[in-house]
Amino acid sequence: MCGIVGYVGSKNAPTILVDGLSHLEYRGYDSAGIVFYENNKFNIIKTEGRISNLRDAIPFESPSKVGVGHTRWATHGVPNQVNSHPHKQGKITLVHNGIIENYTGLKKELGNYTFNSETDSEVACALIDKLYNELGNMEEVLEKVPSMLKGSYALGIVVDDEPNKIYAIRHKSPLIIGVGDNENFIASDVPAILNKTKRYILLDDFDVVILSDEIKIKRNGNFIEPIIKEFDWEVDQTSLNGFDHYMLKEIYEQPDVVRRTIESFDTNEFPEFTSYEKIEIVACGSAYHAGLIGLHLIENYTNIEVSIHVASEYRYKKHNFNRKTLVIIISQSGETADSLETVRIAKENNIDTLGIVNVYGSSIARDVKYLIYSKAGCEISVATTKAYLSQITIMGLIASKIAKLDKVDSEHLIKTIVSVIEKREIYDNIANSIYTKEHLFFIGRGIDYYLGLEGSLKLKEISYIHSEAYPAGELKHGTISLVTPGTPFIAIVTDESIAEKTISNIKEVKARGARVILLIREDLFEKGDYYDEVILIPRLDDIYQPLATVIPLQLIAYETAKKRNCDIDKPRNLAKSVTVE
Ligand code: G6P
Repeated sequence: MCGIVGYVGSKNAPTILVDGLSHLEYRGYDSAGIVFYENNKFNIIKTEGRISNLRDAIPFESPSKVGVGHTRWATHGVPNQVNSHPHKQGKITLVHNGIIENYTGLKKELGNYTFNSETDSEVACALIDKLYNELGNMEEVLEKVPSMLKGSYALGIVVDDEPNKIYAIRHKSPLIIGVGDNENFIASDVPAILNKTKRYILLDDFDVVILSDEIKIKRNGNFIEPIIKEFDWEVDQTSLNGFDHYMLKEIYEQPDVVRRTIESFDTNEFPEFTSYEKIEIVACGSAYHAGLIGLHLIENYTNIEVSIHVASEYRYKKHNFNRKTLVIIISQSGETADSLETVRIAKENNIDTLGIVNVYGSSIARDVKYLIYSKAGCEISVATTKAYLSQITIMGLIASKIAKLDKVDSEHLIKTIVSVIEKREIYDNIANSIYTKEHLFFIGRGIDYYLGLEGSLKLKEISYIHSEAYPAGELKHGTISLVTPGTPFIAIVTDESIAEKTISNIKEVKARGARVILLIREDLFEKGDYYDEVILIPRLDDIYQPLATVIPLQLIAYETAKKRNCDIDKPRNLAKSVTVE
């Protein structure tokens, strides 16, 4: 979702801003813009569409040393140049990430202003200008803003009267400060500045930031001495390194990710799981699918009652917490608005929280009681692969820790994952048989159904083929009516205990003309006429079997999207980090 980058230093600000924005492209956006100080004024350039359009529009040479940039993911008002940021009202120019919930009321109160865009952000801009006219001091203005703006916001602001400064404030939307040598940055997240500096400062909600050649942060009315941290992500994680797409590169990184995840799994940092009577797993998107794997494993290997919830539903449902409930929140970005709200609800009820989070220092990582970092590193592709794999590895590690199982043979696991990735030709052949289709089904039972959900989501996200994942036994209660000759089915069979049942369901769709692509654990495979194509999955310990099974699903989605000429790393309408409800 919207991305922010701001710069104060001695270099060409427009170029630095556009470069920073290009590293935030993965968050999802539909227009972009910058404001920079040149020729004694702040200049705004905005373009619809890709960053490359903005790059073409900015001055090649510029003496400007100060500016703020933004990628917009439309919420209020269509994606066009007028609605894109920065917005200017009076002496204030700003960029905004988040949603101002009370903007309609504020807009009425700000009747003297003329609004050019349909955005909530321009209303925030006018409000800040009004306050600035009244108070004449930006620090005081920003201290007042929290009492007047409802919703979520990260704001990067420049003021006509102070051309050497950037102001910033955040509430529930991500924003960090990057600390360089004689230059400072604000940014929505790490990749925007990773090729400039590794030093950063985390901001609390409502911190007032004044950025010039020095960094001033005012917290609760007092200036604080900020704690400077250092990223441990490498710059090459944000470049393609010869791969056609970040998604493919990240799929290839998975063996390393699994190794890191296993090696860094520190049991000392854990809550005592057995002291809980109930575990509630809460997440969104693929993280929710990783949670399903956790649900299956914890249920099967322990006696703890487990439930799972989509965060956007969980936040509005009635809760029957008791003191012995543990809420596990899974999130790659650590900024997903609904998942973050889950943490707040649990804390409000004095319930313990465990976060499984990928992004260091993100809001969820900072707010939970217990924390396990997934070790995926910087994930750029909107469609997650390596972060999901890291999450399900952690699910396996947690289940085996509670069940006191033997340590995993990580060398064997990693070798197997490598061997599955290397079967690219097979996935390419499968993609050939499905890329012209508009509908597809994934079926499986138990954990295989949960993996089907992730496979289906991957395919939808990047290839735009409509697909549904179904529990194989449920199919005949309605959905089987959609089977006509040639309808593609990807059937997943890795759970030995119910393999025969699933195979019966596969035969039912095959008998009705379905084209069956069978993904089956190699030792369960028997030749027959119930499938058209087969992918054999090497056997792993049950707990880690999903790691090998999901990779073909990721690669089938990838190869299929490629054949459909889709924008694989930046699928339409999607955002990597969903920071609004
Ligand atoms: C978005 C992303 C998904 C992700 C989901 C949850 O929809 O496109 O890939 O699974 O958000 O994000 P989180 O950062 O909380 O894991």
